[in-house]
Amino acid sequence: MEFATRLNTLQTSIYSQLAELKRELQLSGKDLIDLSIGSPDLSPPHSVKQVISQLSLEDHAYDYTLTRGIPEFREACANWYKKRFNVDLNPETEVLPVMGSQDGLSHIFWAFINKGDAAIIPDPGYPIYSDGLALVEGEKIPLPLEERNNYLPDLSVISVANASKAKLMILNYPNNPTAAVASHEFFQEVVEFAAKYNIVVCHDAAYTELAFDGYKPMSFLQTEGAKEVGVEFHSLSKTFNMAGARLGFVVGNAKVLKALETIKSNIDYGTFRPILKAGIVALQGSREIIDRNQNTYKKRRDIWVEGCIRAGWQMSKPKGSMFVWAPVPKNLKSLSFVKDLATEAGVILVPGVAFGEYGEGYVRVGLVKDEEKIKEAVRRVRGFLTNKD
Ligand SMILES: Cc1ncc(COP(=O)(O)O)c(C=O)c1O
Repeated sequence: MEFATRLNTLQTSIYSQLAELKRELQLSGKDLIDLSIGSPDLSPPHSVKQVISQLSLEDHAYDYTLTRGIPEFREACANWYKKRFNVDLNPETEVLPVMGSQDGLSHIFWAFINKGDAAIIPDPGYPIYSDGLALVEGEKIPLPLEERNNYLPDLSVISVANASKAKLMILNYPNNPTAAVASHEFFQEVVEFAAKYNIVVCHDAAYTELAFDGYKPMSFLQTEGAKEVGVEFHSLSKTFNMAGARLGFVVGNAKVLKALETIKSNIDYGTFRPILKAGIVALQGSREIIDRNQNTYKKRRDIWVEGCIRAGWQMSKPKGSMFVWAPVPKNLKSLSFVKDLATEAGVILVPGVAFGEYGEGYVRVGLVKDEEKIKEAVRRVRGFLTNKD
């Protein structure tokens, strides 16, 4: 068998090393607390489960819904955007369903990037951005996210040559992995920059509904001129705990959405009808589930951060997302810290370097276990750090 070289361009090595370590530890009988994967352990609203279970018994639920899905879903997305962000969207041209935002984020590159074309990608960044670009053999222009700038990129570090050749720019706030949040002023700067250099902005808004301490994340599309330069990807995975029932949607610039639709209509036949209907119920429902999620993650965040600080590990409390981004203690490299912590204490985190070179020196903690498990993880971290002293 001769495999395509693109398989080698995917950032699999750190993840496969971690998966291998996890497997070995499990086989050796080690009790693990896995805070590495951002998959919610909470359940969707009962109404969502009810729609999926009832509709999946109906014969007509099994047809292709095609890439644009059903009009009621696009309308529900547009109404939700109006209510949540006061952004007007035309459900016919400015909303496109996707099978999870990952589907949209990976295929958007196919619509814009020819071999060798450039895209600006945050570093550290959620891996699909670099991998999606690598799959179409594009050139990555890394956009550093640094602590000294609160993990907001400094657009002035992008050279005129790089800005002029970039066709796409990816952004993501509240951010994975850094858990940072964006300001209105920053989004305004982005719109001006994108208009000046003719760059399409793709804002990944997977975590707009996970925020704490009174902070309310905004939509990129609330910025004047944003719809002329870009689109926003939303996910029902974290907002409504529907991660396995693959559903998201992309909104904004109609020409960008048409191009994405053309690519996707040659790849898939749309989302399972009961999932689209469940998405409508979720979007039309009360914000109770969102408030509940926020409370849950906030309590976990506080247990983790306060406990680690008491154990001598300094880190700050994030305003959004389901993650904590913490500097690696004891000046260790992120991968060796993660391996040691997993082996000695059975707590699994993600090394920052897995998200790009600017992630080195940090680890990402996913708040994806209940309070008791997080408390236990903190106890183990304390023991681990004491042993290292
Ligand atoms: C920043 C970010 N974007 C997109 C996704 C993909 O989410 P979905 O389940 O909608 O594909 C994730 C999932 O963890 C994420 O963290």
